[in-house]
Amino acid sequence: MYAPPTGLEFRQIAIPTSIESPDAADFIEMVRVRNLVYLEMNGHDDERIAPEELLPAMQRTDYEIRLVWLAVQDGETIGRVGVDIPLEEDSKVVFWRIELLRSSWGRGVGTAGHALVERVAREHGRTVLQSWTSHPDAPGPRLSPPTGFGSIPDDHAARFYRRHGYSLEQVERNSALDIHEALPRLRDLHAEALAASGDYRIVQWFLPTPPEFVAGYGWMKSRMITDAPAAAMEFDEEEWDAARLRRHEAIYLDAGRPMQVTAAQHIATGELCAFNELVIGSDLTEATHQEDTLVLAEHRGHRLGLLVKCAALLAWRDFAPDSPRVLTYNAEENRPMLDINEAMGFVPIAYGGAWKKVLDA
Ligand SMILES: CC(C)(COP(=O)(O)OP(=O)(O)OC[C@H]1O[C@@H](n2cnc3c(N)ncnc32)[C@H](O)[C@@H]1OP(=O)(O)O)[C@@H](O)C(=O)NCCC(=O)NCCS
Repeated sequence: MYAPPTGLEFRQIAIPTSIESPDAADFIEMVRVRNLVYLEMNGHDDERIAPEELLPAMQRTDYEIRLVWLAVQDGETIGRVGVDIPLEEDSKVVFWRIELLRSSWGRGVGTAGHALVERVAREHGRTVLQSWTSHPDAPGPRLSPPTGFGSIPDDHAARFYRRHGYSLEQVERNSALDIHEALPRLRDLHAEALAASGDYRIVQWFLPTPPEFVAGYGWMKSRMITDAPAAAMEFDEEEWDAARLRRHEAIYLDAGRPMQVTAAQHIATGELCAFNELVIGSDLTEATHQEDTLVLAEHRGHRLGLLVKCAALLAWRDFAPDSPRVLTYNAEENRPMLDINEAMGFVPIAYGGAWKKVLDA
């Protein structure tokens, strides 16, 4: 292997308590380069986030350590490296990202960053290294995951992963919906879903979750890990008690990012059975992000996925009428969810790869 470029430094960022603190400069710089890399990679700016909006998500908690470094070449920031370390008991996994400005690709910076990722994983006793990235469509040879669903171009990032011992485990579809154009269709689909789901009603709130829904919502959040298709990607089982839910909510509340939760409640028992999350930055003219959506396994087959998604977007239209688009990510093998999205009018805009490497213990 070639030597790392001279003049390259990975500088670990101390996460400041506030964006106004005197020691926040590196964090602000990290967010600047993050946003530039996503703009270069995606060709749009919908993944941009302000430093003060990202900061709450980077704080250390009882559930996860998030480490981040600036990649600095001769004094100039060229990217960042991040390693997320879940703190579930006996966890074997880490999740990482190396995001470099395009002008610095192909000089060994990524390889040096990956050596850092591997060292940190080993220091924490972790052997399963996992990572996601976007693979913008391109002509030429393609790669398919063992799921048999979807493919990605064998591009620079794919070659990087494979050279470093990773296998492509899953393909994710990133889709977008033009909210204004979709409205009449959403109303029709909502009526259809209502007619098919008579045993359930919609309950809806903005974070923080009202006390009466904390247990039910927490239970559904814990089921995201077990009930959503993960192919061979490895996740720890998570327990979501009230403290964990409140800590998770602080990521949005402290950032000033409104999140709406739309849930389907089984009328006879009061149980929450399905949910959808929509979130936006403090600027309500930006794109909206659809985060988790889930119908608990035992409540499938009543059109609850369609119901919560349509009810969510119809209410969202009143809350953020100037947000033009909604973005969402789904596993390419998740046909039931893709069917719903396609019926609503979501169209694919990009594909992502989920990559995994297992180190010798
Ligand atoms: C994927 C990514 C991290 C790779 O980083 P990189 O710095 O370009 O990677 P490297 O330079 O170490 O390796 C890339 C290629 O350059 C070659 N190379 C690196 N240093 C070299 C050197 N000094 N001399 C000759 N060739 C060199 C490598 O052999 C490799 O070749 P290959 O594509 O044939 O395998 C980077 O492209 C990136 O940030 N992409 C966008 C975000 C992303 O997809 N991240 C993935 C993880 S989240």
